[in-house]
Amino acid sequence: MPWLDQQVALVHPDLKIGYVGAGSYLPAKVLTNDDLAEIVDTDNEWIVRRTGIRERRILAEDESILDMAVGAALAALEDANVDPSEITDIRVGVNTWARFPSLATQLQARIGAEHASAADVSAGCAGFVYAVEEAYNKLYVERVRDERRGTALVVGVDGLSHITNWRDRSTCVLLGDGAGAVVMREVDSGGIMSISTCADGQHGDLLYSDSVLEAQWDPGGPAPFSHVTEGVRPYLHMDGRRVYGVAVKTMVEEARKVIEMFNRENPTPIGVDDVAFVYPHQANLRIIEKVASKLDIPLDRVYTTGIERFGNTSTASIPIGYVDPEARAEPSRPGDYEIDVAFGSGFAAGAILRQVGEPS
Ligand code: UT7
Repeated sequence: MPWLDQQVALVHPDLKIGYVGAGSYLPAKVLTNDDLAEIVDTDNEWIVRRTGIRERRILAEDESILDMAVGAALAALEDANVDPSEITDIRVGVNTWARFPSLATQLQARIGAEHASAADVSAGCAGFVYAVEEAYNKLYVERVRDERRGTALVVGVDGLSHITNWRDRSTCVLLGDGAGAVVMREVDSGGIMSISTCADGQHGDLLYSDSVLEAQWDPGGPAPFSHVTEGVRPYLHMDGRRVYGVAVKTMVEEARKVIEMFNRENPTPIGVDDVAFVYPHQANLRIIEKVASKLDIPLDRVYTTGIERFGNTSTASIPIGYVDPEARAEPSRPGDYEIDVAFGSGFAAGAILRQVGEPS
C-alpha cells in the first residue's frame, strides 16, 4: 500500500536552526526479563533473541508521565543553559496522555515557561520527529516573518506501561517508559538540514490502543471502534510480524529521503557514507539491524544500546539516545551528519538530517 498524503518539509538552506541542548528522564524502577518470566510464559533467552531487550524502566505508582516530561525538559534546559522564561514554544510528542488539558500545557506550568505556546503531537512512535518538525516550522516562520528568534522545547515522552496488557506476552516484553527532550533555536553552524514526515492510516488496526476513549465509552451503548467489545480492556494491541515488515521498509525510505532532499539544495551532495551516526527509533534490535544493513551503515554507527536497557519507549527513544552515555564510543565532530528515523502506530513515520555545529 503506498503512503498516503505524503508530506515533505524541505528546510531553508540559509537559516540554521538546531539543537542546543538535550536531556532525558528514565524511571528508577527496572523490570528485567526474568521479572517478566514470573508474570507471563516467557524467558530471557526468547526475549533477547527476538528483540534484543534485556530490561526496561517502568513508572512507579507515584510517578506520572508528566513527571518524566518535566525531568527530561529540565535536563535539556540545563544542558542548553537556557532559562524556562526564554522558551517561546513547547511541543510534546506523546501517545499515552489520556486526558486534557494537554501534557504540553501542564509541562509549561510545571517548569515556569510562561512565555511559551504549548501543544501535544500524536504520531505514534514518530511523535518526536513530528514535534521537531512543528517546532522548526514555527521558529522558522517567526524568524523570517517577524525577525523573532524564538526558543523551542521539544519533548518525546510515553508511559506505555499504562496501556500494556501484562498478560499478553507478545507485547508486554517490548515496552518501557521514558522521556527525552531537546532545546532548539537558531544556530551559527550545523543544525537541521532536512525533515521528512509521512503517514498511512490504512494500517491503523495493526498497532493501536483505545485507552484514550476508555473514560468516554459507555459499555451499554455502541462501541466507538468495532474492535472495542465488552470485557476487552483498551490495551495496546499489535500484529508484530506485519508491523515489522512495513517498519523496516519505511525507515530505510525515510532515511534515504532526507539525504535526497538535502542533496537537491546542496552543491556538495552527501551519501550514506557521510552520515556519522544514525538514531533509529528503538522498537526492536532486529528492526534496527535490518534497517542498518539495508542502508549499508555499520552497526557501530547506529544507536542500538537503548533497546537493550530501556525497551521500546515510543516517542522518547530517539532523544533518550542523544544523551545516552552508552550510545557510542566517540561523539560526532563539528561538520558530521546524523540522521534520526522513526516509525510507529498510524502508521506515521519520519526522519531528520542534522549537521553537528561548532561549539558555541
Ligand atoms: O514501534 C513499532 C513497534 N513494533 C514492533 O517493534 C514490532 C515488530 N515486530 C517484532 O519485533 C516481532 O514480530 C516480535 C518480537 C513482536 C515477535 O517476534 P516474531 O518472531 O514475529 O514472533 P511471533 O509473533 O511470530 O511468535 C512466534 C512464537 C509464537 O509461538 P507459536 O505460535 O510459534 O507456538 C508466539 O506465541 O513465539 C511466541 N511468543 C513468545 N514466546 C515466548 C510470542 N511472544 C513470546 C514471548 N515469549 N514473549
